[in-house]
Amino acid sequence: MSWRLTELPDQTDRTTLVTGCTVGGLGFHVALELARRGGRVVLAGRSVDRLAGAEAAIHDELPDAAVDRLVVDLADLTSVRLAATEAGRLGPLHALVNNAGVMATPYARTVDGFEQQLATNHLGPFLLTGLLLPQLVESGDGRVVTVSSQMHRVARAAPLGDPRHSGGRYSRWPAYAATKLANLLFTFELERRLRVADRPVKALAAHPGYSGTHLVANGRFGRSSGGVASIVDAASRAIGQAPAMGALPVLMATTADLPGGTYCGPGGPGEMRGLPRVVGTSRQARDEHDQRALWEVSERAVGITYP
Ligand SMILES: NC(=O)c1ccc[n+]([C@@H]2O[C@H](COP(=O)([O-])OP(=O)(O)OC[C@H]3O[C@@H](n4cnc5c(N)ncnc54)[C@H](OP(=O)(O)O)[C@@H]3O)[C@@H](O)[C@H]2O)c1
Repeated sequence: MSWRLTELPDQTDRTTLVTGCTVGGLGFHVALELARRGGRVVLAGRSVDRLAGAEAAIHDELPDAAVDRLVVDLADLTSVRLAATEAGRLGPLHALVNNAGVMATPYARTVDGFEQQLATNHLGPFLLTGLLLPQLVESGDGRVVTVSSQMHRVARAAPLGDPRHSGGRYSRWPAYAATKLANLLFTFELERRLRVADRPVKALAAHPGYSGTHLVANGRFGRSSGGVASIVDAASRAIGQAPAMGALPVLMATTADLPGGTYCGPGGPGEMRGLPRVVGTSRQARDEHDQRALWEVSERAVGITYP
């Protein structure tokens, strides 16, 4: 059954932290709609200016919205740790939306020695989730929503090797697909571990189909405006569904009355567009061995264990 924005419940007294809220992307629309329903939103991102732009755009539409900002570079474990410490002042969190991501970037390694897409899309969010978990537990009704992709279906294998090992040939698209598979493996393993540990937090996932955001231009050029990047960005926006539509599966996973482990995506052809509903995953994403193995690799890589 499709879910509609009109079903988004009142968010008064609820705080949601959304990563990757730059104007024009999915996270911005997730935050905007939660704020429209009276929720307090924490915009988390790596650029002070882009966070300020997102906050100003929300206030243009909703002058009384409760908006906070948190600077975090998910591709840098030290930055994630600092941000989590800073987030202590926010009090209980009702939802963490792991939305920020990069796609098909040229080969690069982060300051921690990880491939950039794996660091940004999985390892940084893995650490952030673990460090914010006490605040999610404190709310008594916490939720972790992680944004995956239909691309998880084309992943050759889960990224289970030592993430600091730089051997092997790098291909941008398979590397991206593997991180989006990791988002689902992470979600299902987190959900299982939360149940075993009896924590009042659920883990769900969502994907936006194909949405016209800055993802393509950012991945290709490291920016979404200027020269060819502007043309690619405009083309991407023209082809994909509006980011406000792409945000709906994420909003559904964040607010609808659903069990942990649910995955939401667009209900249209190929799950590329349309109103959201509960969708399925590849068989690989349900592989419990890979879920456990990725969890253990990730704990070692970022240096914490939870829940
Ligand atoms: N658009 C689609 O069709 C599509 C399809 C499937 C899945 N997705 C997923 O949807 C999510 C959102 O992407 P989008 O389409 O909205 O793309 P986007 O417009 O490029 O937004 C991505 C957001 O992530 C932030 N980000 C990137 N690297 C970061 C880092 N190291 N630390 C903190 N924040 C960082 C970006 O910040 P900056 O502005 O500073 O770069 C931006 O706010 C991603 O996880 C993506 O994989 C999108």
